[in-house]
Amino acid sequence: MLLDYVTGFFSLLFLGSLPRTSETRTCQLFTGNNHVQARQRYAYGDECWPNANEWATFNSSISGRLARSFPSAAVCHTEEYDGELCDVARTEWTNSFWRTNQTGAYSAILWELGYSQCHINSTKTAPCQPGLVPHYSVAAEAISDIQAAVRFAYEKDLYIVVKNTGHCFLGRSSGIGALSIWTHNLKGREWHDSFVVDGAPSGTSGVPAVTLQAGEQWLDVYQDAAAHDVIVVGGAVRTVGAVGGYLTGGGHSPFASKYGLAVDNLLEVNLVTANGETLTLNEYSNPDYFWAIRGGGGSAWGVITSVTYKTHPNPSNIQVVLVSINSTDESTVRTLIHGSLQGLVTVTSGGYIGYGQILNGFQGLFIQPNGTNETFASSFAPFFTMGTLPGADLQIIPIDLPSWLEYCNTFLTDINIAANAISSSRLLSSSALMNNTKQVADLIYNLRDHSPTFGFIGKVNADSSQRAKTAMHPAWEDGRALLDLGVDWADEAPTSEKKQKKEKLIQFSNLMDGVLGDSSGTYTNEANPYEPDWQRVFWGPKYERLLKIKKKVDPTNLFVCNRCVGTDVFWEP
Ligand SMILES: Cc1cc2nc3c(=O)[nH]c(=O)nc-3n(C[C@H](O)[C@H](O)[C@H](O)COP(=O)(O)OP(=O)(O)OC[C@H]3O[C@@H](n4cnc5c(N)ncnc54)[C@H](O)[C@@H]3O)c2cc1C
Ligand SMILES: *[C@@H]1O[C@H](CO)[C@@H](O)[C@H](O)[C@H]1NC(C)=O
Ligand SMILES: *[C@@H]1O[C@H](CO)[C@@H](O)[C@H](O)[C@H]1NC(C)=O
Ligand SMILES: *[C@@H]1O[C@H](CO)[C@@H](O)[C@H](O)[C@H]1NC(C)=O
Ligand SMILES: *[C@@H]1O[C@H](CO)[C@@H](O)[C@H](O)[C@H]1NC(C)=O
Ligand SMILES: *[C@@H]1O[C@H](CO)[C@@H](O)[C@H](O)[C@H]1NC(C)=O
Ligand SMILES: *[C@@H]1O[C@H](CO)[C@@H](O)[C@H](O)[C@H]1NC(C)=O
Ligand SMILES: *[C@@H]1O[C@H](CO)[C@@H](O)[C@H](O)[C@H]1NC(C)=O
Repeated sequence: MLLDYVTGFFSLLFLGSLPRTSETRTCQLFTGNNHVQARQRYAYGDECWPNANEWATFNSSISGRLARSFPSAAVCHTEEYDGELCDVARTEWTNSFWRTNQTGAYSAILWELGYSQCHINSTKTAPCQPGLVPHYSVAAEAISDIQAAVRFAYEKDLYIVVKNTGHCFLGRSSGIGALSIWTHNLKGREWHDSFVVDGAPSGTSGVPAVTLQAGEQWLDVYQDAAAHDVIVVGGAVRTVGAVGGYLTGGGHSPFASKYGLAVDNLLEVNLVTANGETLTLNEYSNPDYFWAIRGGGGSAWGVITSVTYKTHPNPSNIQVVLVSINSTDESTVRTLIHGSLQGLVTVTSGGYIGYGQILNGFQGLFIQPNGTNETFASSFAPFFTMGTLPGADLQIIPIDLPSWLEYCNTFLTDINIAANAISSSRLLSSSALMNNTKQVADLIYNLRDHSPTFGFIGKVNADSSQRAKTAMHPAWEDGRALLDLGVDWADEAPTSEKKQKKEKLIQFSNLMDGVLGDSSGTYTNEANPYEPDWQRVFWGPKYERLLKIKKKVDPTNLFVCNRCVGTDVFWEP
């Protein structure tokens, strides 16, 4: 079953990995002619999928926390029909609080449905195939549930995925016929005035910090942080997980210009490794493993059970700046795009973090903790100047808010929930924005139909020595804006349209490489799920070291995910 979309089993990546040491199971396949054996990952429907008794025994070993999982619209279709739950699903369909609380639901719904049909608005008798939703989910409530699931999967050669909120744009938390470890119910926050990591030399002074369990989501953390009069470096989001993919991908934040990325604020990680053991990672114990998890991406490194982040003082205000500069005639559009790209260098050098889009000009929202009238006037000067051009219509509104929580309550919404929106992206450096402006502006101008957006704009406060402590692509040292070019489709779109749009993303990647060159990188969490040269684009020169660490900590390659380090399974359009 898995083989339907698995190609390229003989990837070079795979050649160095160790064969399984346990005895060969009779139905295990050998897939190589060079004594290269891919780890089998049995999915539901495969001959070696455990039988009902084995599942029942496993289920009782985890206190009955094994559940069948289904697409989020299954309750509206014959087999799983439940009129009441169907009404709820219809009402809450794009509500990310509801969606992240469903075992089988995913935000980028293409990663729930795949090419199957299980639509919320189709008739009760219309088909509802499982799509890419895992067959079983372990609704973990204890670390021992996760250990048991990892051991069971290891022993039975199961295809496992780790799901937290299901927000991943690259489909890393779903998988057809898989066993899913669902971390959503593992809630808990512990605030520390003075935290010292395990194994630190004696005399190391403690720092304010918070320990979060795997299922924590950002809005809950922000509300509790406010009560403790601190802030945590997290996303401009409400329901993204604070501990899972956000962290392993790097984690950008409105606080990044002051405090770096989430990975730069990470003190310690607790996780369950591929052999089912628990392990604590920090810069003293397991420094290589700790380095890898700080940006190494997805679930390639084990199942994180909790993390400890530094916390920071509450800012005295949050300054928000809404900018929109529009052309009043078509001939000015290109000029405004060009000017905005250069303007973003000044804005980000001034400490602002933002998000934006290109629509006959530029529209953006920027944030600066403790921003003042002076930082505002100097940082946005290029936009004020542009506003005086003939054919330009400028609006800039600064807003002073008393707190981060007030910002959350006023501005945070979750976009693209239950949509088929995916994109290809590249980080634009200050030199690409300042010195390669015409080429970048032309690229954006020519692709205006594909809603160019900026998923992140900012100068991250992490110097090259700090960046070397993480697995983040070196492009993050001077990345100023993450350009996204997207596609989207209606749920009912024909397979041919879906395929053609996915292939479009590969074209975008190639076009951006043509303009930006091979040293450009991106943010792996907001990247092309079909990125052709993903090792280079996601990690650049750091990939080799990551792969070495991966082979050491997960020698049989139990944890695979789309375009994750060491993966030998390929996701194609
Ligand atoms: C509305 C929205 C807004 C966003 N805003 C931001 C933002 O402001 N800043 C930013 O940096 N990113 C942002 N993102 C991107 C976000 O960080 C990624 O989608 C991220 O992968 C979500 O992680 P998750 O754990 O919540 O989701 P999931 O889909 O559940 O998991 C994502 C990946 O992490 C793995 N994973 C999850 N939990 C664990 C665990 N406990 N142990 C090991 N692996 C695990 C999964 O296997 C999968 O590979 C946003 C996404 C959305 C949908
Ligand atoms: C696991 O056990 C619980 C409790 O007995 C039961 O409710 C549940 O249906 C079982 N899961 C599966 C997949 O059979
Ligand atoms: C999440 O779902 C569970 C089980 O369906 C339900 O009991 C709980 O109230 C839901 N929580 C939220 C916050 O919606
Ligand atoms: C389902 O139908 C409702 C009511 O017509 C509509 O508002 C909604 O957008 C539809 N949802 C999808 C996913 O098509
Ligand atoms: C903002 O100002 C407050 C109070 O002066 C200070 O404690 C905090 O560190 C500052 N934060 C940032 C991000 O500059
Ligand atoms: C910033 O400017 C606004 C409008 O001009 C003014 O009302 C406000 O008091 C100024 N804030 C500070 C901190 O000077
Ligand atoms: C520019 O266009 C955007 C999108 O249409 C709109 O929201 C915004 O208000 C416009 N801004 C100005 C200054 O006209
Ligand atoms: C642009 O190029 C000039 C001349 O080579 C160089 O001095 C400057 O640093 C470059 N600007 C950026 C932002 O890279």
